[in-house]
Amino acid sequence: MKIKEQIKQLVPASLLHHVQMFKASQKFDRASKIDKDRYLKNAAVIFPEDDEETIKAALLFHTHAIEKGLSHPNFRPNFGHTALASLASLSSKYVASGYSVDAFEFQNYLSVLKAYKERHEHLNISTPYFDKLFRHVGYRNATDMAGVSTISRDSSECRKINYLDLMQCRHSVREYSDEKVLKSQIESAASCLPLTPSVCNRQPWKVTTMMDSEKISTILKLQGGFKGYNLPPALSIISTSDASFRGIDERNEPYVEGGLVLMSYLLGLTAENLASCTLNMMLDQERMNEIRKVYQLPESETMIALVAIGHFKESYYIAKSKRRDPADVCNFLE
Ligand SMILES: Cc1cc2nc3c(=O)[nH]c(=O)nc-3n(C[C@H](O)[C@H](O)[C@H](O)COP(=O)(O)O)c2cc1C
Repeated sequence: MKIKEQIKQLVPASLLHHVQMFKASQKFDRASKIDKDRYLKNAAVIFPEDDEETIKAALLFHTHAIEKGLSHPNFRPNFGHTALASLASLSSKYVASGYSVDAFEFQNYLSVLKAYKERHEHLNISTPYFDKLFRHVGYRNATDMAGVSTISRDSSECRKINYLDLMQCRHSVREYSDEKVLKSQIESAASCLPLTPSVCNRQPWKVTTMMDSEKISTILKLQGGFKGYNLPPALSIISTSDASFRGIDERNEPYVEGGLVLMSYLLGLTAENLASCTLNMMLDQERMNEIRKVYQLPESETMIALVAIGHFKESYYIAKSKRRDPADVCNFLE
């Protein structure tokens, strides 16, 4: 018996438990500190935002606040002073810094100004506060990308779509045919990603796909959860940008957004008839850093999960992964 095992047998169980918990707690603190430092460095923890990514994220955030006001059942004329003031100062800073006015976030901001003004004009309501802030901004020719759209119970096509069918077609498939996966197939599968719900419409997601077999092999060795299978033709990583988040209370949101977009991607791949398997990122810092390097992801990206992708083989076994009864998951309170 090894010395360590012998000592373990001599030490009282309760003391051993305390020692093990103490060591686990220290390890937890070290890992948390790494996460904390990365978040503090990359998120908009202290306002006002001062770099391109955090300004863009804030533009999106405040634009959405105005959109929500425009969709509100009890329209309040001249609503949104705080969001409008923030948009005014952020956009000035953005333009003064020479960032691209063609960027999605900037165009979206211009568009919401147009929607705001037009709604008030339609109702014959003057907007002195808005005019003071945006008199010199050319929002009149903006697109209609922001604002509100109408849906109704009758016009909704969604009732005809059976979501369960798609969910039941998806399985974790770990072996693939030799056929190459084309970039266009990945793009097609990913076309549903921007439809994923996102807090304040921030859309912090990114999917980066590796097609090089040597690099795929390196990443899978580091990940360690795909042993015994042939290399998949493609390996994506889902990540979310910390720059989209604000303040300390949002620190876990990159993971929530990441989980949602991961599910969208898996369903998109299923709809594209591609086989896939999610692979976890429950790894120590060293391995995480190595994987980050291979994917060339900046430090501001939180890495959520890998997805192995390939074409289906003729037929094979997959693990059943039996699910609980829906009644066990669904609770009601009186
Ligand atoms: C976040 C996440 C991480 C996973 N990591 C791994 C992994 O590292 N290796 C693996 O073989 N399967 C992995 N899986 C696949 C699960 O084992 C699989 O989803 C589960 O057994 C249910 O089976 P199904 O996907 O076929 O419905 C992962 C799944 C999720 C959602």
